[in-house]
Amino acid sequence: MSDVSSPVVFVAGARPNFMKVAPMLRAMTAAAPPFERVLVHTGQHYDAAMSDVFFRELGMPSPDVHLNAGSGSHGAQTAKVLASFEEYLLGCAARPRGVVVVGDVNSTMACALAAVKLSIPVAHVEAGLRSFDRTMPEEINRLVTDAICDLLLTSERAGDANLAREGIPAERVRFVGNVMIDTLMHQLPAAKALGVAASMGLAPQGYALVTLHRPSNVDEPVRLAALVGLLEKVAARRAVVFPTHPRTRERLERFGLLERLRSNGAIHLRDALGYRENLGLMADAALVLTDSGGIQEETTALGVPCLTLRSNTERPATVTDGTNTLVGDDLDAAWARVLEVLEGRYKKGATVEGWDGHAAERVTRVLLDAWG
Ligand code: UD1
Repeated sequence: MSDVSSPVVFVAGARPNFMKVAPMLRAMTAAAPPFERVLVHTGQHYDAAMSDVFFRELGMPSPDVHLNAGSGSHGAQTAKVLASFEEYLLGCAARPRGVVVVGDVNSTMACALAAVKLSIPVAHVEAGLRSFDRTMPEEINRLVTDAICDLLLTSERAGDANLAREGIPAERVRFVGNVMIDTLMHQLPAAKALGVAASMGLAPQGYALVTLHRPSNVDEPVRLAALVGLLEKVAARRAVVFPTHPRTRERLERFGLLERLRSNGAIHLRDALGYRENLGLMADAALVLTDSGGIQEETTALGVPCLTLRSNTERPATVTDGTNTLVGDDLDAAWARVLEVLEGRYKKGATVEGWDGHAAERVTRVLLDAWG
């Protein structure tokens, strides 16, 4: 008989984690496992717009534990999450039977490290993704997390191949598909019903949606100014909707670029959006320009053209099978692709294996097998 009070701990820390954890909690509840589930929020993202709205919209239970880590340098933030998650694990009345971490943010690596050092098994959901670019903080988080976790659950086949190449034994790896697409399929009707584009006076396909937050794009004034120039060119052809991450908003203001965007009547600048608002806008966009990881996958699932302002991706299925094209640093090449889309010459997109709305059920089966 298993000890019911020995819980499985799910960790969520930052915005891109919430839509991955939500379907797993739902699937776990439906499967009625013979143990408790605990949700820990590290507090890496803490604003209402970066965190609270996701819990509300995705129907997630309030976190059982809040570590309140907050922002900071990478070292300071990682250390804070590591120390406070370790303290939480040590204080648990019954030793957790396992910890589930998702994605590639600082909280993912920190919590995996704290748990494995206490010999608690850890499962990493969205394992094996590699951009092969070690200047990206997320790439370091992925490498470290996968090297130490017991169970590696992959979202696309490239993940399996990467882990095999790194010498990780196949029995630690399970292909489960993409849990984020579970959330997308579950939320799409409600997202469309919001009518966000219409409320902004925009018709379906009548706008491009833009998101930017990577340090490589927004932290350097010359690069960010060039990207603002690209958005102005797009806006001359099609309206642009640009919800801004707090980091991007701060940089635009600091580099004197915010006013340029604000004064352009075809550019709709917004604060960071909730999950449904963003999904509704994405579903009806003519194209999406982004440097996000998750949005490359979501646009593929929606069949919406996506131009990624990076020169690599850890999610190659979005390029080989999906609607994504990497436009890299060359903004003239990006503009040529924008024209291709707007003129109806961009033909790309198919389904990806395991991106079917049932990945969380497969995760649950793996976890029940391993820890149930
Ligand atoms: C983090 C993740 C990144 C993910 C992104 C999505 C890492 C290494 N990076 O990057 O993979 O794509 O989240 O958003 O974990 N801030 C707020 N309110 C908040 C959170 C942050 O204002 O609720 C501001 C702070 O000024 C902070 C800055 O945003 O310094 C950056 O936040 P942080 O979580 O450190 O990294 P992101 O750039 O968001």
